Amino acid sequence: MKLVQITDTHISHLGGSPSSNAQRFVAFINAMEPDIVVHTGDVTILDPDEDRDRVVAKEILAGISAPLRVLPGNHDVGEPGDDPFGDRPVTSDRIAAFRAHFGIDRFVEVVDGWAVVGFNSELFDSGLPEEEEQWAWLESLPEQVGPRPVVVFTHKPVWAYAPEYQNTHLTVGPDSLPRLEAVLAQLDVRAFGSGHLHHYALTERDGAAVVSAPSTAFVHRGAVSADIVGPGLAQLGVVEYDLGERVLPSFRAPLDIVEPEFLEVEPARIALDAMGVTL
Ligand SMILES: [Fe+2]
Ligand SMILES: [Fe+2]
Repeated sequence: MKLVQITDTHISHLGGSPSSNAQRFVAFINAMEPDIVVHTGDVTILDPDEDRDRVVAKEILAGISAPLRVLPGNHDVGEPGDDPFGDRPVTSDRIAAFRAHFGIDRFVEVVDGWAVVGFNSELFDSGLPEEEEQWAWLESLPEQVGPRPVVVFTHKPVWAYAPEYQNTHLTVGPDSLPRLEAVLAQLDVRAFGSGHLHHYALTERDGAAVVSAPSTAFVHRGAVSADIVGPGLAQLGVVEYDLGERVLPSFRAPLDIVEPEFLEVEPARIALDAMGVTL
């Protein structure tokens, strides 16, 4: 079974390199002929209240031939915690706006004997009613998936590279982590895939592959220090998962894509200005 994870497409209604790159990656993914594609969030450029970005992103992603499931990132629905980016906390309205375009923000897809599971990392530690609904669903997962091997997808990684960075800006919130770990311990998880860090890394935890997937839009070569994200690749790409007897994740990228830093992306600078964010 072949699964492709795409993430952090950061598509803007203003076009530019995030859109042209996303279109290149859509064609590249189609040529890979996956059985299923999972988008792990930050679908849109920066502002969860900009509906025009969702409209364009949905159009571009509709070019993917395989079945597609889409999870939200912090730039799609806001984020939990005291100091959310751009003063955009996760709210019920923002989640509803995401769901209206991309469907429910959690799923189990059974493909070729594998359970492909995804859920919304921005709900953890949020206190929203949607968080409790998601917990009820998470705690029913052992019953839903049974003994099948599982791959788990989230926008933010479940665990930080270094424990001191386990916080709502970078990972599943620390107050929720033990409860989530108790669910995961009941599943036969063979791989975890996340986005958010704009950085490819492949590590291992208790026998499961732990994949940090690269963005298709921009890299953080200098702005994010190695002690936060660990060793890996600052390149744009997607991740192919060959799921058979073993899990084999691979970094994949087409030739000739533009690989800008965040602040080199014109629509990102415009979106920052519109949000009143100065970096
Ligand atoms: Fe991102
Ligand atoms: Fe993110």
